[in-house]
Amino acid sequence: MKKIYGLFVSVFLLSTTAYTQVDYASEIQSIFNASCNSCHNAGQNSFNSSSYAAVMASTSPSNRYNSKHVLPGNADGSPLVDKIEPSPQFGGQMPVGGSLSQDQINKIKAWINEGANQVVTSNEEELGITKEFKLVGNYPNPFNPSTTVQFETPVSVQYTLSVFTISGQLVKEQVGTVSSGIARVTVDFLNQPSGMYIYRLRALASGRELFFDSGIMTLIK
Ligand code: HEC
Repeated sequence: MKKIYGLFVSVFLLSTTAYTQVDYASEIQSIFNASCNSCHNAGQNSFNSSSYAAVMASTSPSNRYNSKHVLPGNADGSPLVDKIEPSPQFGGQMPVGGSLSQDQINKIKAWINEGANQVVTSNEEELGITKEFKLVGNYPNPFNPSTTVQFETPVSVQYTLSVFTISGQLVKEQVGTVSSGIARVTVDFLNQPSGMYIYRLRALASGRELFFDSGIMTLIK
């Protein structure tokens, strides 16, 4: 009983957070359509919010910010973000006559920091391309002496797969890089005793943690 209680506590402590990419069409362009297009739908007032291509091509006049409005991966350095937050370096806060909600501002910043991608949902779903991170599990399970951990990633990532005993001792750690899609990592337990192990998967891109999840695997010799 004590052992089982310990197991639950360990699993509980390995918190699980799922990560989903911001979808440009439904989450970002919709903000531009509602709050910006009335003044920026054809590139007037030095910004073009009419479409993904227009937003990405939009450049501030050289005597102002002197760069593209969206700098992928760098929300804080992007003139677009400066203009929607209070007290911009140049001119007034956008949209004129009000402001976006903090939630909308955060969404736009997250989208830029994720790389300012255009995720074409319908095509991806038709092609069966994964849009979200997902730890599928390990197979076989129970296993002897090796098992394969499978996960799905929407982008190319560096992963770290760590395996712990139930009492929290690290027994294995494998690091590697996978491209987007279905990824499989095989772990060998040749010199380990039978028992339950906890594994933890971390996925990173450019040093930033994008996904974190954990599971349980059982070695039976
Ligand atoms: C009622 C009209 C109006 C609306 C709505 C509006 N803008 Fe503007 N926008 C302007 C005007 C006028 C300027 C030029 C003066 C200035 O920069 O303050 C401007 C300038 C900008 C610039 C800076 C261009 C540059 O580099 O000099 C950006 C970026 C921008 N707007 C983004 C937005 C965004 C994003 C929204 C929606 C959230 C928005 N605007 C909504 C009128 C508007």
